[in-house]
Amino acid sequence: MAWKNDQVSEKETAKIIELASSCLDLEGDYVEMGCYKGDTSLLLADILKEFDKELWIYDSFEGLPEKCEEDESVLGKDFKSGALFVTKREVKQRFLRANLPLPVIKKAWFQDLEPDDLPGKIAFAFLDGDFYESIKDSLKLVVPKMVKDGVLVVHDYSNPALPGVSKAVDEYVSGKSFDFKMMLL
Ligand SMILES: C[S@@+](CC[C@H](N)C(=O)[O-])C[C@H]1O[C@@H](n2cnc3c(N)ncnc32)[C@H](O)[C@@H]1O
Repeated sequence: MAWKNDQVSEKETAKIIELASSCLDLEGDYVEMGCYKGDTSLLLADILKEFDKELWIYDSFEGLPEKCEEDESVLGKDFKSGALFVTKREVKQRFLRANLPLPVIKKAWFQDLEPDDLPGKIAFAFLDGDFYESIKDSLKLVVPKMVKDGVLVVHDYSNPALPGVSKAVDEYVSGKSFDFKMMLL
């Protein structure tokens, strides 16, 4: 499938595809926290379509939440609460139109999700919630389920418009060690 995304660059997408493809032999499902219109989700579903793995995608489907202090930056002033709004129905329709297997699509704020809302084992995860609390909540949910040698990708770690992402990751990983790979895009 061709790249088409206003949130993730073509180069980043190529890396995500490469990493996601490297996890196909591992036990566990694939997860995307913050799917928005589903551009990356469609590519992940395309990778998984021949495999006995499920894709689980999550979004508020109400756009971005409120920022907190850690997210404040002059460059990021366009990332406002309610921006990036899309409906769950629109995302579902895109999968049907692309003739791809429907993922598990969950509409929720990440902070309201419980461990049982995620798959039991995760081989590949893409965290793309843009804000400090969103990334922290995603890490808390996803990390305990990552399988050995799995890959967890965090988007926007180096994006100066979204400083909360690196703060959330740095705080979360401090003093911990993992047996999966964490890739910071
Ligand atoms: C940058 S977009 C995701 C782009 C998508 N991953 C892609 O590759 O096209 C961020 C998405 O995360 C969602 N989001 C951010 N924080 C969230 C939270 N705390 N709970 C639920 N959804 C959240 C927003 O609604 C938005 O759709």
